[in-house]
Amino acid sequence: RLGELEVHWELDSTSSELQRRAAELPDLSVMIAETQSAGRGRRGRSWLSPPGLNLYLSCLKRFDAGFAALSGLSLAVGVILLRALESLGIAEAGLKWPNDALARGGKLAGILVELSGEYQGPCAAVIGIGLNLRLTDALREQAGQPACDLATLAGGEPPERNLVAAALVTALAEGLTRFERDGFRGFVEDYAARDLLLDAPLRVQGAQGVLEGTGAGVDERGALLLRAADGLHRIDSADVSVRRA
Ligand code: BTN
Repeated sequence: RLGELEVHWELDSTSSELQRRAAELPDLSVMIAETQSAGRGRRGRSWLSPPGLNLYLSCLKRFDAGFAALSGLSLAVGVILLRALESLGIAEAGLKWPNDALARGGKLAGILVELSGEYQGPCAAVIGIGLNLRLTDALREQAGQPACDLATLAGGEPPERNLVAAALVTALAEGLTRFERDGFRGFVEDYAARDLLLDAPLRVQGAQGVLEGTGAGVDERGALLLRAADGLHRIDSADVSVRRA
């Protein structure tokens, strides 16, 4: 079966809808909503999702190999998103580990990858992307952090939203299929070319405390490399906050 494409006026969350219906939907199915009543971000935050401005999209990808083979998936999705934007002539954005897309110091898009299934066996990823096309002053205020949109990067009007959606769906279908074949190894170079933390002074706060050093790229599994006074640290968990020091 071919991947399905559904466009709804309103959903609670495109990712929740895909999760509820994952069993009946074919691989690479895509869910888009004009507005979300309960858009979700990472770490339990909400994702503001008013109609008429932005893009809220989720994609289902099944993997036979289990979670064990999926390290780096959320970084690969960042690369896929930036490639889609580059195909539309927007080449200014970069990636902040693990998977924020930033431009001009503000957040351009959020990526939420949720896994279900087995560690070594069939599993599924629901990949949710919220992309800012045009932010209002009210949205910027509510965002709680600096934000950027495609309109700003394009110097006025954002690209036609259906072209953005089409580019993203195409890039996801192509990129996720490649990830299934090659893993994150197939994305390392493209990630490095868009890595905003490379050579930046960083402060990483995790359960074990605070680490300070310089961004040294990512490894083939997608872990962040941090060069500190006592040597190179490998940061696996996305459960840390990474800041420019
Ligand atoms: C983040 O916290 O940066 C991730 C935000 C992800 C938002 C998108 S919008 C489409 C999909 N549906 C959701 O409820 N969340 C994701």
